Amino acid sequence: MCGITGYIGTDDTGSIVHQGLENLEYRGYDSAGIAIAGESLTIQKTEGEVGELSVPTHADGMVGIGHTRWSTHGEPTAPNAHPHTDCTESVAVVHNGIIENYEALKAELRDRHTFTSDTDTEVIPHLIETHLEDGVSLVTAVQRATRRLEGSYAIAVTAADHDGIVVAREDSPLLIGHGEAATYVGSDATAFIDHTNRVTYLKTGDIARLTDDDVTVYNDGARVQRDTQTLEWDADAAGKSGYNHYMLKEIHEQPRALRQAISGRINDFETGVDLDIDLTAEYLRAVEEIQIVACGTSYHAGLYAKELLETAADVRVTVTIASEYEFSGGRDPQETLVVAITQSGETADTLSALRDAIRSGARTLAVTNTLGSTVTREADETVFIRAGPEIGVAATKTFVSQVATVTLLAAHLGEARNVLSTQATRDLLAGVQELPGAVQQILDQEPTIKEAARTHADSEAFFYMGRQAGYPVALESALKLKEISYDHAEGFAAGELKHGPLALVTPDTPVVAVLTAESAAEKTLNNVKEVKARGAPVIGVTSDPSHTSSVDQMFDIPECGPLEPVVANVALQLFAYYVADEKDRPIDKPRNLAKSVTVE
Ligand code: F6R
Repeated sequence: MCGITGYIGTDDTGSIVHQGLENLEYRGYDSAGIAIAGESLTIQKTEGEVGELSVPTHADGMVGIGHTRWSTHGEPTAPNAHPHTDCTESVAVVHNGIIENYEALKAELRDRHTFTSDTDTEVIPHLIETHLEDGVSLVTAVQRATRRLEGSYAIAVTAADHDGIVVAREDSPLLIGHGEAATYVGSDATAFIDHTNRVTYLKTGDIARLTDDDVTVYNDGARVQRDTQTLEWDADAAGKSGYNHYMLKEIHEQPRALRQAISGRINDFETGVDLDIDLTAEYLRAVEEIQIVACGTSYHAGLYAKELLETAADVRVTVTIASEYEFSGGRDPQETLVVAITQSGETADTLSALRDAIRSGARTLAVTNTLGSTVTREADETVFIRAGPEIGVAATKTFVSQVATVTLLAAHLGEARNVLSTQATRDLLAGVQELPGAVQQILDQEPTIKEAARTHADSEAFFYMGRQAGYPVALESALKLKEISYDHAEGFAAGELKHGPLALVTPDTPVVAVLTAESAAEKTLNNVKEVKARGAPVIGVTSDPSHTSSVDQMFDIPECGPLEPVVANVALQLFAYYVADEKDRPIDKPRNLAKSVTVE
């Protein structure tokens, strides 16, 4: 996935577009480029990060578009970086998504047009050029060109001698920011949140013409109205606030993120939870199965949710990696609730699974962080996790906020299905309310965890094991370490140790054991003995001081029942962070990854 930014106004266009790209770099960072349009186009591109792209200073235009890329078609080189232009170099296009029929279009255009990149995107400016030759306006040329495109796209287009930006979206997200005598465009609000929080989300099929004081939106050839809303995020929330990395800042924001996730949702201990969703108690009682679909960290939150939901709501729960999902036989769509968990709300695999569920006729519920994202528009119901902007590519605060939110969902379902007694609901909700404080206690142990990370940073590989809710936490903690440190890390269900991973355990492979309450710690202690017998150093994460003698090092977790493992995860986020920091890795922008993956 990539980032799009654009600006039209009277301030310093080059600096504003460059700043927008810096804000968006977490979306992709292997090449970048800017086009400024005046009487002619000024284009700058770079292979590498936005920092290597100089700020255009002598461009004469008040219109600019920019792009930071995460390569899909063609290597991350300057010729493949966006913006791409037509033959006359007077039309510039930046694009997110994939044009599926680009080879056929290229073959058709090749006789009269010269292509200079390996990208799918380059067909777009050449198609627009073809229509501009008929003397139509830029917006009409874009309308006609996009009719030829198959696939998903968000594009921003500008051209020499045209006084605006034309944008279009099909599936890929795109939104417009409204400033004072200035208009912005972005693939997400971070592109321009320093300047305005008044936004318009475009819908799929929309094409819009932007000037500094006007936005005209068309869909299917007709003018349409789109609402403007005010975002609660502000520029400060997206800054680093003195931390070396966004990831560390976001780890430290977790107590606040958790309070936001819970705030106003627990009515009182007697009357339970208000998630503002339109699923009646009657419907929830009739649900036979909940199918959770998600990817990566969100998939791990889904596995955690299964533990909570099956216990609290006595309902069968399946959790499927979204790219493997298919609404399969033997299920009655009327009795199946499909829950898509996605921080960004834009992950292509998760959206594809959700659409499969919608086609089958099942009710759908999105659990997401992102207002206005595609998932919120396509799912029947949405619950926001309210974690605030997460810029570091490695998900941290959104994982704990997802777990807190699905805990509320579990309490809601448990009540609706008459499974949870009042006392059990109280206990579960009391546990959620204790989470911010419990996480703060972990953050207070940062120096100890940092020291442990330094000690083990040069290890050959890392293993993480746990049971029940400790199992998704083992998976998630291993994912975090491998993403940002580039060390091999593997998480597994502790019971699987002797079925394979034990072969790899040596004195140079630390093993982290999740020994929290409600994760069958007693059984996992047997696995601890097995790895210690092979000389591996063991770090235990536990609230039970009696486990101290069984491990080489302890990270102490406060007691909080079924939510103890998610608190353990916070300690292991810090551990991963400091292993990566010791190795001087680019923690916020790990190689080859992007914050949201909008291609399947
Ligand atoms: C890992 C990470 C990814 C995402 C995954 C799903 O730190 O961030 O594994 O969790 O790409 O993204 P969302 O939640 O946006 O659907």
